[in-house]
Amino acid sequence: MTEREQELIRLAEEEVEKNKKVVESDPYRLRFHLMPPVGLLNDPNGFIQWNGTYHLFYQWMPFKTGHGAKYWGHYSSADLVSWKHEPVALAPSEWFEVNGCYSGSAIEHDGNMVLFYTGNVKDEAGNRETYQCMAVSENGVTFDKKGPVVELPEGYTAHFRDPKVWKKGSEWYMVVGAQSEDLTGKVALLRSADFKEWQHLGAIAGSGMNGLGDFGYMWECPDLFKLDGVDVLIASPQGLESDGMKYQNVYQAGYFIGNLDYENATFEHGDFVELDRGFEFYAPQTTLDEKGRRLMVGWMGVPEQDEDKHPTIAHKWIHALTLPRELKWVDGKLLQVPVEELAKMRQENLVELSDVQLSEDKVGLAMEEGGTFEMNFSFGRDLSSFDLNLGEAAQLTYDASSSVFSLHRKSFVTGEWETRSCKLGAMTELRAFLDTSSIEVFLNGGEEVFTARVFPDVSVAGEVRVSGSGTVEKVQAWEL
Ligand code: FRU
Repeated sequence: MTEREQELIRLAEEEVEKNKKVVESDPYRLRFHLMPPVGLLNDPNGFIQWNGTYHLFYQWMPFKTGHGAKYWGHYSSADLVSWKHEPVALAPSEWFEVNGCYSGSAIEHDGNMVLFYTGNVKDEAGNRETYQCMAVSENGVTFDKKGPVVELPEGYTAHFRDPKVWKKGSEWYMVVGAQSEDLTGKVALLRSADFKEWQHLGAIAGSGMNGLGDFGYMWECPDLFKLDGVDVLIASPQGLESDGMKYQNVYQAGYFIGNLDYENATFEHGDFVELDRGFEFYAPQTTLDEKGRRLMVGWMGVPEQDEDKHPTIAHKWIHALTLPRELKWVDGKLLQVPVEELAKMRQENLVELSDVQLSEDKVGLAMEEGGTFEMNFSFGRDLSSFDLNLGEAAQLTYDASSSVFSLHRKSFVTGEWETRSCKLGAMTELRAFLDTSSIEVFLNGGEEVFTARVFPDVSVAGEVRVSGSGTVEKVQAWEL
């Protein structure tokens, strides 16, 4: 490790110590989500299960609650439930990354953990350079930087970043988020026999490709993997216009189902589908774990979307990661299911009721005051409307006649209620995880998901009420 790197790590650690009290005294500090110890967190990075242990890194700015020269923070876990905060993995100390160790991924090779990430460099005039870099770890804690392994291929601007690497047969592949010279968003595919020398095979997807039309000026954080027989390409495009209920956030994150032709470097695909319909979700990353599950974690935030207005800034931290979700491809649908390990978080069983007839009158569910909780509802076929009131935090509504489901929350900017919606067939199931300042809602076994930060003045646990028309076959809630 260079002296400069040691110094940067020391400064970050100092910042953590200095602000510990302020950060930890925030009532909005989450109880079961990963957060930065101070400063700003954004994308999940380097998600991997390595020698049995899960490792999840994150983009981290220790010195302020805004963006800048990012570090890689690091958490590890045996079970995806209890996480240990590890020492800083990467600090932006070298010439090829002075303006940030930007997003990237992890693989296992010869017993080592190998990270690929973007070295971000900007000169005084703001001109950008980008290097895809490698770092190797034998112990999963300290990383030996090997420097750039990919320079910018021709045809792209310096907005070329976020390498995701995987192995297929005896070769290595990398997708990179990119902007081509005509200023449109792309995903570039590269190949290597030894993961040190990379060949650029071309753009495989992007704005203006594969029948897509105009589709944004930059695509960030791509991920590509096989899932139950189909190839899934995830990307976070920037520059989409909102379109009815779709693309309501400043930037989007979604997927294409398709078929990657490794020989010809082409990817035929269907429509872009948003992964999450809530207010805060971006730059997700997946990994294949030792059980063969495809797991995904996202950033519970969106770049430039009122980031400077988050109430937690007063306590010197901002943003969190989502709960880990397992992806499944079932009957032509991509499902996102909270990983089964999360059941370990359940404490007291707060509610357990069967065959509840909903009515116009709001019925209170006795939830512990001050709690954070999980709620599961299953509905009868006769459900025609449903309204779940979570006090000041959020309201969830469903109307069978329009088949619209909505999440409403109080804006942390204006205090007015605001809404995100999607069309859903019959609603059969609703599962919600409520932390002190976040909500994640999974509908119909993960067919649609809504993630949002919520900042209620008081705990909502005492104010959970349901109304509607039809039958709740079962409702269960646990304190978490
Ligand atoms: C996405 C992103 C990435 C970049 C990182 C920098 O949120 O802009 O493209 O690598 O964040 O923190």
